[in-house]
Amino acid sequence: MTNPASAKTVHIETFGCQMNEYDSELIRAILRKEGFAFTEDKERADIVLMNTCAVRENAHNRVYGHLAELKAIKKQRPLIVGVLGCMAQNLKKELTETEPIVDVLVGPDAYRQLPNLLNRAIESQEQGFLQKVIAVDLSEYETYEDILPERAEGVNAWIAIMRGCDNFCTFCVVPYTRGRERSRDPQGVIREAEQLIAQGFKQITLLGQNVNSYRFGDWDFARLITAVANLPGIERVRFTSPHPKDFPPALLDAVAGHPKICKHIHLPLQSGNDRILDLMNRTYTRREYLALVEEIRRRNPEIALTTDIICGFCSETEDEFLDTYRTVEAVGYHSAFIFKYSERKNTIAARKYRDDVPDAVKADRVARLVDLQKRMSLRKNRELLGRTVEVLVEGDAKRSPSQWMGRTDGNITVVWEKDGLETKPGDLVPILIQDASATTLFGQPVIRGGF
Ligand code: SAH
Ligand code: SF4
Ligand code: F3S
Repeated sequence: MTNPASAKTVHIETFGCQMNEYDSELIRAILRKEGFAFTEDKERADIVLMNTCAVRENAHNRVYGHLAELKAIKKQRPLIVGVLGCMAQNLKKELTETEPIVDVLVGPDAYRQLPNLLNRAIESQEQGFLQKVIAVDLSEYETYEDILPERAEGVNAWIAIMRGCDNFCTFCVVPYTRGRERSRDPQGVIREAEQLIAQGFKQITLLGQNVNSYRFGDWDFARLITAVANLPGIERVRFTSPHPKDFPPALLDAVAGHPKICKHIHLPLQSGNDRILDLMNRTYTRREYLALVEEIRRRNPEIALTTDIICGFCSETEDEFLDTYRTVEAVGYHSAFIFKYSERKNTIAARKYRDDVPDAVKADRVARLVDLQKRMSLRKNRELLGRTVEVLVEGDAKRSPSQWMGRTDGNITVVWEKDGLETKPGDLVPILIQDASATTLFGQPVIRGGF
């Protein structure tokens, strides 16, 4: 029998977090091995796969918008449409019922089955009958250990070291879409990191829904990140996203002191009010969170902190919101992702609490916090004026190919004019900071050797 995949061309669109970016790289590797080809142009694709996110309603809406576009293409010619990832897992059959153009639905633990499922969909389409193909079983073990993702070019490579989440924050859909927490064998992670360094990647980002809850035998996260950072040839190691509950002293020491571990911690706060934190099941109080911030800064005051915040969670009052506002002021984050609470089906909050803060109030709280954060980001960035910082060159600046763009180890974007020196992506260059906006630093290279 011929393999129906042999001439089929796939286009993948990725929504959501870095874990989805990584999963799309895994999916490419899985499909490439079975003879599928890829295109960047969805107009030319036989198969369009959307790797989706379910974390907030607007993530859903973006996917529905793209599905409407695909509907128009599918009217004119045969096309297989697949929805993968968190939305597929979360909505399961409902999605194929409400969106008839969806042929294939595959959750985050079922990607090994994807070639077979796509072949089945192709066959049924060629034979002219409509068959939906669905694989949404979650696994307690799947880590795709033996699959080497087909990575995008660049200076950074992701390595997922653990998958799933057992925290069940009451607002969050991730434990339902990604299943139980499980960690990869550290030897596999280290081997993969060595290969990536040999391929020329300068930075490795260790990924997990709760990356610092990593555990495999007597390996914890501090031990693993230190082992990766000790590999010869690596320039920078990052990690995301950690949970504030898992920062033992060994990890704080590693981040503060290891020269290859970036001086940046993304430390999701969610709320600065204890009653709301408790309703959210975040398992820490405002004081405990602030004590952690102090511990981080006591070890190294240069560490950049960033965060995630939800405004207008069930029953949040103005005063409780102001606790969050004041906590943001007190911590002084470099940047923050600030979201309106968005009720997700099946979560504990959806079952137990009422989503009773009016949308206009949520929007107003977000706007006030965004405004505060902009001022704080500008202040933080201005602290770097006149200083020389080490920047990892990523590529051309978005606005102009005559400028370079890179990042400090605190993850702040830096832009500077190309200067005729032999700079290339992946280089570490010393940049003297001369100007700062809330989001970007501007500067000029310091003559080499002067660093
Ligand atoms: N595992 C990571 C990322 C979770 S999703 C972590 O724990 O940090 C990223 C962010 O989305 C969360 O930190 C939270 O701020 C936000 N988020 C999650 N569910 C949400 C919801 N229902 N409504 C609004 N924001 C949400
Ligand atoms: Fe969601 Fe909480 Fe798990 Fe993060 S830790 S993925 S916010 S349940
Ligand atoms: Fe979204 Fe799933 Fe990531 S819900 S944020 S793509 S884990």
